[in-house]
Amino acid sequence: MAQAKTKTVWMCSDCGNESPKWMGRCPACGAWNTMVEERVSVGPQASAGGALRQGVVSSSAPVSLSSVSSSGERRISLGLPEVDRLLGGGLVEGSLVLIGGEPGIGKSTLSLQIPLCNPSLKTLYVTGEESVRQVKLRSDRLGGDASNCLVLSETMVENILDSARGISPGLMIVDSVQTMYSEGLESSPGSVSQIKETAALLLRFAKETGIPVILIGHITKEGSIAGPKILEHIVDVVLQFEGEDKGQYRLLRSIKNRFGSTSELAVFEMTGTGLKEVANPSELLIPMHGEGLSGIAVAALMDGTRPFLIEVQSLVSSAAYGTPQRTATGFDPRRLNMLLAVLEKRAGFRLAAKDVFLNMAGGLRITEPACDLAIVAAVLSSNIDFCIPSDVCFAGEVGLSGEIRPVPQTDRRIIEAQRLGFRKIYVSSYSSFPEKTAARGIAVARVGDIAALCRNLFK
Ligand code: TYD
Ligand code: MG
Repeated sequence: MAQAKTKTVWMCSDCGNESPKWMGRCPACGAWNTMVEERVSVGPQASAGGALRQGVVSSSAPVSLSSVSSSGERRISLGLPEVDRLLGGGLVEGSLVLIGGEPGIGKSTLSLQIPLCNPSLKTLYVTGEESVRQVKLRSDRLGGDASNCLVLSETMVENILDSARGISPGLMIVDSVQTMYSEGLESSPGSVSQIKETAALLLRFAKETGIPVILIGHITKEGSIAGPKILEHIVDVVLQFEGEDKGQYRLLRSIKNRFGSTSELAVFEMTGTGLKEVANPSELLIPMHGEGLSGIAVAALMDGTRPFLIEVQSLVSSAAYGTPQRTATGFDPRRLNMLLAVLEKRAGFRLAAKDVFLNMAGGLRITEPACDLAIVAAVLSSNIDFCIPSDVCFAGEVGLSGEIRPVPQTDRRIIEAQRLGFRKIYVSSYSSFPEKTAARGIAVARVGDIAALCRNLFK
């Protein structure tokens, strides 16, 4: 048999693109300084992505779609209702789910909680990072029933798959993809080719056996070094863990889901005994203090299909130095600059010489434009030192000409605000929602532009 040869190639650690020579910028995804050197085997042995190229099903004859039986995918409940909701109603049989996040955010904790909350599900927990004893110590801390959870400390994928075939568990968890390697490749664990190969082998295993696999992957602060980004095409579902470093709350966001909707969000609280689900995030994220503080406004947002309210805090003060500071925590600073420019130009507020700080409650990161109106209100409130009553909230997007644009599902936001005891909500004049929503004991103030908001709010 011919000996496998190895060669050196350059691979983009973001998208996995291969190139024979080093380049400053990846030609496929346009990322800078992401090309890393890799040794790959060529020839009769397995090569990078070999398992992936072989596909997930062996038969290649086309079939009529109508003749394919659709007995409905079977879903497995993970015992954590919020995670089940995020997945679209449980874990689909034979699916490969990637949980990504920065080191220390709680990926191992969450994945170990799944078997502990779900003793009827036989789970194989494969760890390449911790010893079996460490996993045991963690499980003791988390509590729960560990009788049906098998732990394997192993990093070679072929061995893992052999064990899994022998045990045939109901769920397999692999922590983490960066520590795994396939014997078919020469490169070291954590390299782009090993990560792709590992994921491809696990995908094939999941599809062949119907055993769902949860794969854990680290992302670094800078984005992803040989990280889960390159896996996003391969896996069925991508869940991303986010949260401020010292923040108590952790967010699990669905970024890709072949079996459900994305843009869903689950909120967890990190406690001494693991992650606790926060079933009703609004109650934690709205002000605890009474009246009397300027710079605070509440936004009525949607995370996927669920409305939630969050406190937005702002502080506007005279700049101590020549160039004013603009700092946003949990919000895109460029969008904050845009909103400040709109306030300056369209509403005549002199903010150019002011420092502006913006903060979202609970360390959450908000990307929804419906938050704009609350941000504008918080900034104006701090600027003129006028407090917004604590039973008022906002839902609207601000456009470049200062107009307030309607946001989707306004009615659900109004109902949630009313349920949480708010007495007034500001929305766009152009919003449309059923009449009966407005007649629920909450005043709906419609505003068309920022000037109208100021007149109405600060009269
Ligand atoms: P971990 O799950 O190991 O993070 P990851 O696998 O994403 O790297 O742990 C996250 C952090 O959570 C760790 O710094 C300690 C903390 N922690 C708690 O606060 N309470 C707990 O019960 C556990 C198990 C961890
Ligand atoms: Mg870990």
